[in-house]
Amino acid sequence: MFVFIILIVVLCAAPVSADQHDDTQVLIVYYSMTGNTKEMALAVADGVNAVEGATAVVKSVEEVIKDDLVRADGIILGSPSYYANVAAPMKEFIDAWYFEYELPMFDKVGGAFCPGGSRTGGQELVVISLLLAMMNNGMIVAGPLYEAWGTFGATAMTDTAPHEGVDEYELADCRLLGERIARVAQQMRK
Ligand SMILES: Cc1cc2nc3c(=O)[nH]c(=O)nc-3n(C[C@H](O)[C@H](O)[C@H](O)COP(=O)(O)O)c2cc1C
Repeated sequence: MFVFIILIVVLCAAPVSADQHDDTQVLIVYYSMTGNTKEMALAVADGVNAVEGATAVVKSVEEVIKDDLVRADGIILGSPSYYANVAAPMKEFIDAWYFEYELPMFDKVGGAFCPGGSRTGGQELVVISLLLAMMNNGMIVAGPLYEAWGTFGATAMTDTAPHEGVDEYELADCRLLGERIARVAQQMRK
C-alpha cells in the first residue's frame, strides 16, 4: 500500500513536458503581403478546429518558431504564387527546417495552399513545390477531402476581375484541407 501511494505521488508530481499534448496539433504557417493567403490560412484553421480533438495554431512565417514545428503533428503551408514559385520568405523558412533547426519532420502530416492573381498563375505548381519540400523532409502529404477528384491542395484566383479576393468556394476548399490534414494527423498519432 505504501509503495502504491508513493507511486501515485511520484506520477502526479512528474513534470509534464511542453511537447506532450492530448489534442492533435496542426500548425498553419503562411506568408501574406496583401492578406489573401492569411484569409485562406484562417479558413484552413476553421477546418482543423472542426475536427474533434484537433487544434489549429496559425502563424505567419515571421512569427513561427522552432518549438511550433516540434510540437506539430500536422503542418499546412500557404504561400502566394510569386512568378509561379513559392514566395522567398516561405522558402527561407522551409530551408531552415533541417539546416538550421535540425528538425525531425519524419511522419508529420503536411498539406499546402496557394492564392495567385490569375487563372493559371502557378498556384498548383506552388502547392506541389510545398508538398515536395515536405516529402523531402520525410513528411506524409495529403490533399483536401474529395474522394473522387485529384486535388493536391487549396488554391484561389485573387486578382482577375470579376474574381477579386478569395471567394466562398475557395474558402470551403481551405476548410476541407484543414479537416483532412487534422484527421490524417490524428490517425498517424494513433
Ligand atoms: C512579386 C509578385 C509576383 C507575383 N507573381 C504571380 C504569378 O506568377 N502568378 C499569379 O497568379 N499571381 C502572382 N502574383 C499575385 C499574387 O500571387 C496574388 O496577389 C496573391 O493573392 C497575393 O497573396 P497575399 O495577398 O497573401 O500577399 C504576384 C505578386 C507579387 C507581389
